[in-house]
Amino acid sequence: MSTKNPRVAVVGATGAVGREMLSILEQRNFPASEIVPFASSRSVGIKLPFAGEELTVVELKEDSFKGFDLALFSAGGGTSTKFAPLAAEQGCVVVDNSSAWRMDPKKPLVVPEVNPQDLDWHDGIIANPNCSTIQMVVALQPIHKAAKIKRIVVSTYQAVSGSGQKAINELETQVSRLFNGKSIVPDVYPHQIAFNCLPQIDVFLDNGYTKEEMKMVNETVKIMGDESIKVTATTVRVPVFYAHSEAVNIETEKKLTPEECRNILAGAPGITVADYPEKSLYPMAIEATGEDDVFVGRIREDFTVDNGLNMWIVSDNIRKGAALNTIQIAETLIERDLLRVP
Ligand code: A2P
Repeated sequence: MSTKNPRVAVVGATGAVGREMLSILEQRNFPASEIVPFASSRSVGIKLPFAGEELTVVELKEDSFKGFDLALFSAGGGTSTKFAPLAAEQGCVVVDNSSAWRMDPKKPLVVPEVNPQDLDWHDGIIANPNCSTIQMVVALQPIHKAAKIKRIVVSTYQAVSGSGQKAINELETQVSRLFNGKSIVPDVYPHQIAFNCLPQIDVFLDNGYTKEEMKMVNETVKIMGDESIKVTATTVRVPVFYAHSEAVNIETEKKLTPEECRNILAGAPGITVADYPEKSLYPMAIEATGEDDVFVGRIREDFTVDNGLNMWIVSDNIRKGAALNTIQIAETLIERDLLRVP
């Protein structure tokens, strides 16, 4: 066992994000000495493809982490709350995709392009941010560095894959049944999602916002490390399978022209600028699907305020929004020799 070639547990390996994690570990040639997929007792024995072979799913148990160096979790908040501390106690560093630890002041919330330095103070559990937040901060951090962002107004158009495999199946089934004149019964979502837009992601809070909206507000400030940034969000589920789109309006302290903004983003890591309105070229969910980058386009001045810009930010929510960001965190831990529970 070595922290340069860790033994890796993938927790929630049968889910939409878990399967993507396996495929990204393979694509990026992650230097694991062994990879073991874990899920609930329902999935024991399921074979998952990996590097031309098959990995057999094992049931997650309290003592599962003995002998592992790294656990990549995507099995919901309840599983993370219970099992992540057990993993850390057993000497295994956790990178967790759920919201369970994100706002814990003792847990870093990391997007490697934005705040890799926060990995220095991890205590064995590192939180992976919410998918909509990740793609937004990747695009906004370089602008913040150049011109200091004062306020962000974001509206999202979020794919169903963000709600897991069941939601992908639900959209597929609803589209096909409605197209054939059959009735549908919503299950994952409170209303029909096919041919519809739902201005509700997660539950409503007392302040009138949804939990997803408040995740964007709170997580953005924690990741960008600047409490002076004001954020307001409206998050909407749309009948798209993969990739979230976001209309983002910002106000900056220093004036930036759209051209200056494009140049800054073009030179920043993890970003592709796709902004040729005259050719009807801009980021789109169907083109971002399966890609690693955050795509930014429709960059234009907001003429209603002094230093305002509008833009359109699109990224694959299962890759950069979840599985890829998790694995990039793990790669950074290895590179910086931080893969150990202090
Ligand atoms: P399982 O398939 O055995 O239910 P998604 O977000 O796509 O719905 O995936 C959720 C993932 O989390 C699945 O791999 C699921 O496994 C896993 N999971 C859910 N509950 C548990 C649990 N109590 N223990 C281990 N894995 C769990």
